[in-house]
Amino acid sequence: MDVGFIGVGGIAGNYLNSLERIADVRVSAVCDIDATRAGSVAERFGSRTYDDHHAMFEAERLDALFIAVPPFAHTDQEILAAKRGIPMFIAKPVAMDLDTVNAALAAIREHEVMTGVGYMWRHSDLTDKARELLGERAIGMAIGSVHVNTPGTAWWRVLGQSGGQIVEQSTHIYDLARSFCGEAAQAHGWGGAALNPRIDFEDVTTVNIRFEGGAVGAMTSTSNVRTGKYSLELIGNDFHLTLNYGANRMAGHVGEETVEYEAAESGYYIQVERFIRAVREGDASLNRSDYADAARSLALTLAANETLRTGQVVDVPKIA
Ligand SMILES: NC(=O)c1ccc[n+]([C@@H]2O[C@H](COP(=O)([O-])OP(=O)(O)OC[C@H]3O[C@@H](n4cnc5c(N)ncnc54)[C@H](O)[C@@H]3O)[C@@H](O)[C@H]2O)c1
Repeated sequence: MDVGFIGVGGIAGNYLNSLERIADVRVSAVCDIDATRAGSVAERFGSRTYDDHHAMFEAERLDALFIAVPPFAHTDQEILAAKRGIPMFIAKPVAMDLDTVNAALAAIREHEVMTGVGYMWRHSDLTDKARELLGERAIGMAIGSVHVNTPGTAWWRVLGQSGGQIVEQSTHIYDLARSFCGEAAQAHGWGGAALNPRIDFEDVTTVNIRFEGGAVGAMTSTSNVRTGKYSLELIGNDFHLTLNYGANRMAGHVGEETVEYEAAESGYYIQVERFIRAVREGDASLNRSDYADAARSLALTLAANETLRTGQVVDVPKIA
């Protein structure tokens, strides 16, 4: 299988390490505006290099494509891949505005192209185990926490390039809350700024969510601490589970049963392995997040951003 990459920075390294473990995958082509980065991947995998994805699409015949550019850099990559019928695995968030996403989604649907999105914790053992333990029980409340340090990448610290912490980072936990509680209808929150001089957006946020099915959510985020906490608590009638994704552990109780669980698989490798298998076998269900689903997580996080600025309850935009 001939695989291409657009963007070979931090997270692409993780995807490349995973691909290296899978038989019969060639990283044939890499595109990055940073020639040094593209060159070092080419040296490792024997790939052809490009500094413009248009040239890569013209020259290559790819069986699958990984897109791992920063949120602001998504332009027409997904549309061009869709037109060529190339299945795509895309790092989250899939973009940082809904116009870009809706245009890409239309092309993906028109050309019936398979997509996977890098919400790796959808594939974690913690997620599977929580679903198994909860069965048909209704979730009443989800409490999400993303309490982490400021990432080193320069673009991350600029609202106009990353979308801010909720869109870029807390999206993992907002996405998991959606996957457990169903679609989000409304968001209302508050943000505080200027504690952290290295970023130009709110560095402490608290957002409440009303889910269509009746559950409520409370999400707090900061990129101002060293705690490294990424967690989701799920609460309902006589159960309370804390899924600590940062530590790969889950604890709590479901009825009389005390839960203490450690995950063997964080989701990073298996998301890539499943995407490749999905392409080979034509089984899209192996991808636990696809482009349309990821677009809904973006819509929720953009609504969260909007309420921080307006103080108003915001309806989450619908993605058809
Ligand atoms: N756990 C995760 O799922 C996870 C972790 C980190 C980052 N990410 C996501 O991955 C994406 C990339 O983040 P990163 O940390 O790897 O960033 P990065 O800055 O380390 O790497 C991005 C790369 O894209 C290249 N690039 C930028 N614009 C380009 C363009 N138009 N064409 C080709 N290459 C281009 C840059 O030169 C850079 O090498 C972001 O959306 C981020 O949110 C996901």
